[in-house]
Amino acid sequence: MQHLVETQQFDRAALKRLFELASSLEGKREESLKGKILASLFYAPSTRTRLSFESSMMRLGGNVISMENASESSSATKGESIEDTIRIVDDYADVIVLRHTEVGTAARAAAVSRVPIINAGDGVGQHPTQSFLDLYTIEREIGRTDDFHIAFVGNLAYYRSARSLAYLLGKYKNVKMTFVSGPELGMKDDVKEYLKEKNVDFTETEDLEGTMQIADVVYQTRMAEEWIPKGTDFEKLRQKYTITRPMTDHMKDGAILIHPLPRAGEISPDVDDSPHAVYFKQAAYGVLVRMALLKLFFGKA
Ligand code: CP
Repeated sequence: MQHLVETQQFDRAALKRLFELASSLEGKREESLKGKILASLFYAPSTRTRLSFESSMMRLGGNVISMENASESSSATKGESIEDTIRIVDDYADVIVLRHTEVGTAARAAAVSRVPIINAGDGVGQHPTQSFLDLYTIEREIGRTDDFHIAFVGNLAYYRSARSLAYLLGKYKNVKMTFVSGPELGMKDDVKEYLKEKNVDFTETEDLEGTMQIADVVYQTRMAEEWIPKGTDFEKLRQKYTITRPMTDHMKDGAILIHPLPRAGEISPDVDDSPHAVYFKQAAYGVLVRMALLKLFFGKA
């Protein structure tokens, strides 16, 4: 694998290897990437993805150079194209982690880069490393990646992490999906067509409470108003799909509630100490999965 642009690039065997490696790295500090440099180029805001990649690189003994607000602080403001920027940065670093506002930017960067490009989110496109850590969380917390029912909730049309995970789960057996959303924010046709090709059993509903009582995994999303078409009443939609403590109290034993975070009101704070709430653990698992991914990219696994 030269670049990571979309989740479909990983098959089950590769994910199994990634997850085993991630688990073996828990609590570890190494020097295996000593002398290597990671560049994080973030043209859109981030807390978890950028810092967890940087933390992962440092835990492996590597170094980091970073542009955290590249849309304002880089030479893009002078008109430099992403292709030219990548042609420069690939001389400065051994791997580039890229987040951008526009769909397809990671693929454009990969087309010209001499070092690996890792897509850290491209507009409403994909966020593959998030879906890897989401799936890793599912495996760790419910003990399997086949034979379960996942409910995706809220903003499914414009939330790239949900789109990426749905693509990824198409590779697994007997994963039932319920898309809990309304017509404004429903899962887009490209994902649904892919799932039909893979014979995945999926349904669509607006019944959040009822679905939460039967799902093994509830995947909540942020309303992400920065991606939603202007004029949409996202406050009304946020309220409609907010998860409250009484709702989690009626989840099945062993079922989990995950969310890539950040949240913005769509999970009540009093859910945080529910036994079903694992979203903060999920964010912590991101370091393990990204450490494992970096080791694989550098042939150190
Ligand atoms: N989940 C996620 O991508 O978070 P950040 O936007 O903080 O990186």
